Amino acid sequence: MRKLLIAANWKMYKTPVESTAFLTSFFPLVKNNTSTEIVLCPSMTSLPALVDAARGKTVSIGAQNMHWLAEGAYTGETSPTMLTAIGVTHVLIGHSERRQYFNETDTTVNLKLKSALAHSLLPIVCVGEHLNEREQNLTADVLNLQVSVALEGINPAALGSLVIAYEPVWAIGTGRTATPEIAEEAHKIIRAKVASIAGSDIAASTRILYGGSVKPDNAQTLCCLEDIDGALVGGASLDPASFSQIIANATQTA
Ligand code: PGA
Repeated sequence: MRKLLIAANWKMYKTPVESTAFLTSFFPLVKNNTSTEIVLCPSMTSLPALVDAARGKTVSIGAQNMHWLAEGAYTGETSPTMLTAIGVTHVLIGHSERRQYFNETDTTVNLKLKSALAHSLLPIVCVGEHLNEREQNLTADVLNLQVSVALEGINPAALGSLVIAYEPVWAIGTGRTATPEIAEEAHKIIRAKVASIAGSDIAASTRILYGGSVKPDNAQTLCCLEDIDGALVGGASLDPASFSQIIANATQTA
């Protein structure tokens, strides 16, 4: 019932020319895919070119960040209306690198989530614990807090498109993936929290992606788990062959 979603987070990599070159190689590799929602999140400057190149294809384009306001005197920021105006349909919210290096908090995540929903952008809200929090057995507390503040004040009826990405910070870019047991346990905690806030129907339809060193050789094991509905892929999404292999392997389990 939950459609598998595999998203690429290109972070601060690829110029517009490099981004469209990726698509030229990538489309033939996923041309038979119908069962998986594929989302590419390039840097801001590549968004227009990728939206154009992906028109009519089964690949959606998302931003890696946005401001929550529609406009204003906020130098360097991009608004949700600017994204929808060029055809962007998805947005990452609260990635751990945004939280770590750009002072994003659960409160700004909440503002951005409300704004994304109001502007009909499909939000992918990132949550996850740091290594020291896991070692102190605080994972459930951290996830519960991140999810509850993110969803605060939002009418459950508006949450139909919600996607959450569980990204343990210690697994991002480290080559150290969460074990299937760790990932499934965290996803169950997140789904239970969504249920307690927004009800069991919304929780049952919310897709929860796993992110953190997803590669072709672990995508199948992770994505076959009951509460894992796809992946948010960083490093391994930069190469068309490796990203398409992740999609193929994850899809086998769906
Ligand atoms: P990674 O990044 O796949 O390179 O670990 C994941 C992410 O940051 O979303």
